[in-house]
Amino acid sequence: MAAAVLATTQHALAEDHGRALYMEHCASCHGANLEGQPNWKTRQPDGLLPAPPHDASGHTWHHSDEQLFLITKKGVAAIVKNYWSAMPAFEGVLSDDEIRDVLAFIKSTWPQQEREFQEGRNRQ
Ligand code: HEC
Repeated sequence: MAAAVLATTQHALAEDHGRALYMEHCASCHGANLEGQPNWKTRQPDGLLPAPPHDASGHTWHHSDEQLFLITKKGVAAIVKNYWSAMPAFEGVLSDDEIRDVLAFIKSTWPQQEREFQEGRNRQ
């Protein structure tokens, strides 16, 4: 019982911490409401894509935890070789734990269906 309460509290703390980190490091591009940048599916004249939403309308939830962690730490090229993108790598800016907290916050905003889909990706 105490362990369960503790685990729930730790989870909530991670999400709160993640929210603050998100607002500081991610919201300028991905939006304060995780809505992304306008026309995020259309490449700009420089060939780069705008920042996609992190809410259910985007495709962040199509990626496993491992992929999301790597994208945030190393940039999109970590999962798509030689891919050039406007997504900065947060290695050296955020610790591994901070990256996990930001992702925990993003995941906490998804509806049940997207969460279950994403959890399935972790098992593949
Ligand atoms: C300078 C703008 C900018 C900032 C700041 C930024 N991102 Fe991004 N992010 C992007 C862009 C642009 C893309 C799309 C890259 C592409 O596909 O070409 C992206 C893509 C992503 C993706 C992949 C999404 C998908 O569906 O494939 C994740 C995950 C992500 N960002 C997480 C974060 C997190 C977490 C933070 C904060 C710690 C952050 N980003 C901060 C611009 C930014």
